[in-house]
Amino acid sequence: MMLCFHISVTYARESRLYIQRTQLSLLNIVIWAADGTIRGNISNNPTLGVLFVAESQDTMTLSTDLNYLRTRIPKKELVGLSEATGLSITSKRFAEYLDEKDPISFLQKYFHYPSVGDQENESCVYFCGNSLGLQPRSSCGEMLRVYDRCCSEDDFDDDDMVIPMMAKLVGAKMDEIAMNSSLTVNIHFLMISFYQPTPERHKILIEAKAFPSDHYVTQSQIRYNSFCPETSLITMEPREGESYIRTEDILDLIDSDGDSIALVLLPGVQYYTGQLFDIKRITEAAHKKGCIAGFDLAHAVGNVDLSLHEWNVDFAVWCTYKYLNSGPGCVGGLFVHETHADVKVNRFPGKGTDHVLTTKAKDYVLSPPCPLLLSNVRCSMDVFSKTSIEELRCKSFYLTGYLQFLIEELFPSGEEHSGATISILTPSNFSERGAQLSLVFSVPVTEVNKEIAGKGIFCDLRSNTMRVAPAPMYCRFVDVYRFATTIHGMLRKSVNYGV
Ligand SMILES: Cc1ncc(COP(=O)(O)O)c(C=O)c1O
Repeated sequence: MMLCFHISVTYARESRLYIQRTQLSLLNIVIWAADGTIRGNISNNPTLGVLFVAESQDTMTLSTDLNYLRTRIPKKELVGLSEATGLSITSKRFAEYLDEKDPISFLQKYFHYPSVGDQENESCVYFCGNSLGLQPRSSCGEMLRVYDRCCSEDDFDDDDMVIPMMAKLVGAKMDEIAMNSSLTVNIHFLMISFYQPTPERHKILIEAKAFPSDHYVTQSQIRYNSFCPETSLITMEPREGESYIRTEDILDLIDSDGDSIALVLLPGVQYYTGQLFDIKRITEAAHKKGCIAGFDLAHAVGNVDLSLHEWNVDFAVWCTYKYLNSGPGCVGGLFVHETHADVKVNRFPGKGTDHVLTTKAKDYVLSPPCPLLLSNVRCSMDVFSKTSIEELRCKSFYLTGYLQFLIEELFPSGEEHSGATISILTPSNFSERGAQLSLVFSVPVTEVNKEIAGKGIFCDLRSNTMRVAPAPMYCRFVDVYRFATTIHGMLRKSVNYGV
């Protein structure tokens, strides 16, 4: 007679062997590792003690399968990893372990980290990639090289590498994108073509907390067309008591008011809350009602995976100085779907395109972009070419999930830690956010930010909200650990922060 039963064993603290499941019978013991492979088969020995001298092999990995991760909850995956390794999720060793398992940690060496004090501090924590990304180390040398070339050549096209890589990042055909000017200038140029109000259809839908310049652009375009922002601009708010706008509410609004909406202009990722909008569904809903769908991708490009062509987005704009790491003031990018390519439109003409008023992306390039700036984009695209947006997004799943876990663990909601609490504005669902978490502190956040900056931890403030963006390209799990534990240490003596 064979007697079979299952037991669970986690034996990992020292050997890091993960025995997910063992099947024990009187005659046979089989040990499965985390990846499902059989790691041991011990016949005729039912003694559990034997298990602990079984083969020791670290089989844990961070998944690089984005489709798989889309179906998972970051917190659960991290807890699973913690249990599997026997490392406490709040221990520094766990963070170090995740860094060891990070398949793209090698990218960190390509970046220049800000110095703290008078020395370049390799352990500086830089969480401002949503505002201004770190620059690749190669940028300076490349700029000098291009400068030398500018002195000897009067015209050269440096788009050859930038455009293909950029097209890949936004999910577009190469003919659908162009590098030009800056984000705000590009929205204006594109709205000249794509915002064609009529007395029946003259409204623009944006979010109430749209980036200030997007607000000004839409208001001025409405006035430029002799309409009035008070009646032509719809600014959408989250529901009472909620921090971000539900997709279903956007879709409902487009459905109910779409006949009077000329343009839906929303972000890919919202700059303040970090919410990732469902571009595909919003575009579908807009088109169903005959509206144009345009997107500001400043916080989305290089941060989340995009498929602008497949989603039939009409137009989009972005900057290259945030998650694209091309330096302050660098040249912007724009997308125009190929379905518009041969449509005659209003457009400001420029170099080489003076009389043919079609809507191809490159037709919006009125002057060739500065080669010195393009060289920065090229250096950035070179680093992106060593990985993929899918790989970056997978790391982001764990990295931002880990940040959320530590914040929730160290500052449990509703409970007070000497009076100081932190709440998270950003959706906790992976498919509704990118790298950024927006944290609201119950204590004066300026003081907190000043103090952590003094310790080499850089975050970004917007009013009472700290925007924390662990960019997967150059941020580490130990950075997240250091941020969370430093803040925890500070807020436990929060008497200093005026509570
Ligand atoms: C969401 C968003 N839109 C627009 C802009 C303006 O970009 P620019 O000043 O490069 O035109 C920014 C700048 O940070 C932004 O974050």
